[in-house]
Amino acid sequence: MAASPRAFVLRHTRLRPVPGLEEIRLHLADEVLSLWHAVQVETGDPDAALPYWAFAWAGGLAIGRYLVEHPEAVTGRRVFDLATGSGLCAIAALRAGAAEATGVDIDAFAAAAIGLNARANGARVTVLRRDVLDEEPPAADVIVAGDCWYDARLAERVLRWLRRAQEQGIDVLVGDPGRRYLPTGELVELARYDVRTTTELEDMDRKEGWVYRLRDPRSATPTTIGARPESG
Ligand SMILES: C[S@@+](CC[C@H](N)C(=O)[O-])C[C@H]1O[C@@H](n2cnc3c(N)ncnc32)[C@H](O)[C@@H]1O
Repeated sequence: MAASPRAFVLRHTRLRPVPGLEEIRLHLADEVLSLWHAVQVETGDPDAALPYWAFAWAGGLAIGRYLVEHPEAVTGRRVFDLATGSGLCAIAALRAGAAEATGVDIDAFAAAAIGLNARANGARVTVLRRDVLDEEPPAADVIVAGDCWYDARLAERVLRWLRRAQEQGIDVLVGDPGRRYLPTGELVELARYDVRTTTELEDMDRKEGWVYRLRDPRSATPTTIGARPESG
């Protein structure tokens, strides 16, 4: 692990406004692959994770836009940002009036980035660095999950955990650009936005980002992969 993830984040990013959410500023990088290489060198780990934390992903951007339009979804409520990356959704929730926000991510650099980003936005985000997906759902009113359907195993675990949270009365908001493992049959579309991601890894820098809630399990249809769910 790097001697100081915080110093590493500062060295490899620049504080700048988030496209489409200019009132939020994040420590962002320009190129994924060169930064990924720097992470591998810094950690001595050739299998180090992609530096997701240095970019604003389409799913998180869609949630951020949704919270600007619908602050009532989080106002006065406790928000838990699953797979928070840069902390974008947690910060957006606090700006929309959330009573408190917690961001969780498994990546040590993400934990450092969230701290820096929260501070840059005058936001107080509680940071958890661990995998909570085998734990009980958190003490929260709303869970936001931005862009976490890019890996089959992760998607399966996230869905199971979100379902448990929903059963306990927690509202769930999912943001996603239509990634491969998005469980479309389990979701109800709430909004769609044109978003501009900050990573050059995406096919196009302008993407569509959707915001969904979890479908009521009593009306759930079988999960389908890759097709757009019905509105309603
Ligand atoms: C594509 S990024 C999305 C970041 C942010 N939500 C956004 O939309 O900009 C996915 C994030 O999920 C995190 N992640 C992967 N597995 C996780 C797990 N089991 N628990 C928490 N976070 C996880 C990664 O480290 C990464 O930061």
